[in-house]
Amino acid sequence: MPEESDPVCVNGPAMKKVYIRTFGCQMNEYDSDRMADLLAATEGLERASQPEDADLILLNTCSVREKAQEKVFSDLGVLRELKLARPELLIGVGGCVASQEGQAIIRRAPYVDLVFGPQTLHRLPEMLSARRASGQPQVDIRFPDIEKFDALPPPSVTGPSAFVSIMEGCSKYCSFCVVPYTRGEEVSRPFDDVIAEIAELAQAGVCEVTLLGQNVNAWHAPLDPDAQALGLPAHADFALLLEHVAAIPGIERIRFTTSHPREFSQRLIDAYGRLPQLVPHVHLPLQSGSDRVLAAMKRGYTRLEYLSIIRRLRAVRPDLCIGSDFIVGFPGETDADFEATLQTVAEVGFDASYNFIYSARPGTPAASLADDTPRAVKVERQRRLQTLLDAQASAISATMLGSVQRVLVEGQARRDPGDLAGRTANNRVVNFTAPTHLHATLARGYAWVRITHVRAHSLRGEWIDHDALDAAAHEPIAQRMLPTP
Ligand code: SAM
Ligand code: F3S
Repeated sequence: MPEESDPVCVNGPAMKKVYIRTFGCQMNEYDSDRMADLLAATEGLERASQPEDADLILLNTCSVREKAQEKVFSDLGVLRELKLARPELLIGVGGCVASQEGQAIIRRAPYVDLVFGPQTLHRLPEMLSARRASGQPQVDIRFPDIEKFDALPPPSVTGPSAFVSIMEGCSKYCSFCVVPYTRGEEVSRPFDDVIAEIAELAQAGVCEVTLLGQNVNAWHAPLDPDAQALGLPAHADFALLLEHVAAIPGIERIRFTTSHPREFSQRLIDAYGRLPQLVPHVHLPLQSGSDRVLAAMKRGYTRLEYLSIIRRLRAVRPDLCIGSDFIVGFPGETDADFEATLQTVAEVGFDASYNFIYSARPGTPAASLADDTPRAVKVERQRRLQTLLDAQASAISATMLGSVQRVLVEGQARRDPGDLAGRTANNRVVNFTAPTHLHATLARGYAWVRITHVRAHSLRGEWIDHDALDAAAHEPIAQRMLPTP
């Protein structure tokens, strides 16, 4: 019940808390954080940790696979009960399902108040006002170019690492994928905006950034005449952007996700040789090792072209760890096609990767292809591929045993709050012991950690005093690629 002093809006008591549930990729995680920042700035809303405590509940949805999409509608069923008990509760659906279904969400779930897409989340405050004023559900799933970023407040800083979205959408139109239809065509953020945002984050203590986009290496932007007077080209590519991000004082690690093999240029490969801030880890989706399947997927590269990128990357960064995405059971994938995938995986030696069973998405070209492979065969292919990928990731972890790693500390370990947790340059979670009196100093900065145990999905280690470290004597893997402390 509202307290007596609470201000009352046209449509009920003032809101205090928003609960945001995020489905899907890191882009959605980023968008959810931006929604929270925006609603804090404009409506004074705090983030609730459970839906029962919230006055506004937002589902930030994913429609890349059918399962994720169906989960949204089952969650909405549960929220309906909450709304029946508290009619003033507002419910919004954003993200890719919202973008794809639009008004149909209101027809299927009439208790939903707001439907907004990935490109219109900045309009949430206006949509809330319109909902309050009209009493009617509001739907806005347009793709209004890049206005989203101009309308959002600066991102809040919550730790030593931060996500920075550098582009929106995707124009690759892989035959299986809904993203170009739900998030729109590729649009790059301006060079100056990206650099200014990262410089601000660095000033606030961020030392690691992850540049986000569906295909970050397709990022490009015109440079203004002042920049050209300084000898820069008229147009910047992703490699040039990386160079400038690396030059920002305080930014010691740069990650990006996802990149696409089609635009993995020699300039980008050369950047790995030149910029120690680029972590020795790249996520480069392959999807299949069969050229026939790659062509049917409209991926725009062959197996050999992919292998050539890997070979050239490893020539400049021998310790580079490569993660990937795979789809098994694409329509028409034969046993021979699948064996070609296993063969390619064996050849590359991947780090932790994702491996999905093909899910037909309405409106995509592949959805109309005959899909004759029995489900049991697809499940077995996924299992075999996963076994190989797990073994490869474990082999990389095993080489780290006994090494000294520079770890970006993220806070207390989840399982044992007496320990600290952080990430190595090659993106492994490390839980480690450290003297309690040092926890506050180490938290949110870098620590040197000796790896003492290798687990399936994480490492364990112990903090070591860097002054006592004979740096040159250790370092089997990722550390060799790190910038000097
Ligand atoms: N931009 C990335 C790339 O270069 O491929 C892909 C982003 S997509 C949102 C993430 C991954 O989901 C894809 O790499 C693909 O493996 C998987 N995926 C996309 N559509 C899928 C579908 N219809 N069925 C199964 N997996 C799918
Ligand atoms: Fe989807 Fe292909 Fe773009 S997987 S996100 S259409 S690169």
